[in-house]
Amino acid sequence: MPVTVAILGTAGYAGQEALDRVLAHPELEVVALGSDSLSGRPAHALDVRLNGNLPSFVSNEEALDTGAELVLACLGHEDAATLEPPADTVVVDLSGAHRLADAELYPAWYGFEHPRPGTLSSWSYALPELWPPTGPLVANPGCYATAALLALAPLADLVEPTGVVVDAKSGVSGAGRSLKASSHAGFVLENVAPYRVGSHQHAPEIGQALGFPVCFVPHLLPVRRGLLVTCYAQATDDDLRSRLEDAYADAAAVRLLPDDVAPELARIQGTDVAELALFEDRATGRTIVVCALDNLGKGAAGQAVQNANLALGLPETAGLRLGGVLV
Ligand SMILES: NC(=O)c1ccc[n+]([C@@H]2O[C@H](COP(=O)([O-])OP(=O)(O)OC[C@H]3O[C@@H](n4cnc5c(N)ncnc54)[C@H](OP(=O)(O)O)[C@@H]3O)[C@@H](O)[C@H]2O)c1
Repeated sequence: MPVTVAILGTAGYAGQEALDRVLAHPELEVVALGSDSLSGRPAHALDVRLNGNLPSFVSNEEALDTGAELVLACLGHEDAATLEPPADTVVVDLSGAHRLADAELYPAWYGFEHPRPGTLSSWSYALPELWPPTGPLVANPGCYATAALLALAPLADLVEPTGVVVDAKSGVSGAGRSLKASSHAGFVLENVAPYRVGSHQHAPEIGQALGFPVCFVPHLLPVRRGLLVTCYAQATDDDLRSRLEDAYADAAAVRLLPDDVAPELARIQGTDVAELALFEDRATGRTIVVCALDNLGKGAAGQAVQNANLALGLPETAGLRLGGVLV
């Protein structure tokens, strides 16, 4: 019997991508498509390629109440923070609402008081290759945080914990589907600019997972999807490569590149794979780790399904987009 799935926030970029992965999954079956804006309308109202085999949209609240065995919550942070997970259900939250252990960080970094601070400890912050889910409530890491942690977490005890810099760049889908001045074509095209400098909400989850804070600066790229982080650190050991090799030896969704090959967006766009490469700066001796991934794939829906697979006891990579060359 397939595992039944409800998707909340299906009309957004992350929700639509989650639906794509679920439809490609051999052991998952969609039983509820949640969207407050599309409630009552057929599935093809979202995309004409969706046919009559899918249920019509219901409100996000109704989708949560359908009794599905898996809920993929693709809502905004503040909406997701109010979620009351049904009993005996695997819930993967793609938002930041359950990523930070300390509820007091939410007003400063997310702009709202957490409405259910006492529940945060029941969610596990899960990045499958580093920290698999430990229970049914899963906080899926942020897209930038996934890339920074894949690059830095295995090396955390081999670098100076002060002075780590994460310089990041993302395509515009990272900002979501709702229209904002900063995502207008007139602003984005043929432009690159930093944003939320020194105050992006992924900084505290990176610091929480590494055990020390990093200086994190994101930039907006004039592309639709994909992100790349370049991490700078001072190593205290010269065996960094073997640490990364050990960490990702069995990882189907993380590709450690050979020496002198750099990650690039074109190879990871539309996939659930992260590319990683390690360099040493000849001038300063500084260690540089670069990671590229698709913000909607390994950075969101692909990783959410990977986490769901682990939480449900299914094959870890079922439904993921891992293959393809020269795409
Ligand atoms: N985008 C990414 O790369 C990414 C990566 C990792 C995590 N996430 C997280 O995933 C969650 C959802 O992000 P998202 O990027 O999917 O946000 P989004 O595209 O803005 O969608 C979020 C919700 O906004 C509503 N909405 C607003 N304007 C819309 C429009 N023009 N068309 C369709 N729906 C619209 C929809 O809800 P209703 O239909 O119910 O009204 C939709 O589910 C967030 O918490 C985000 O932080 C996103």
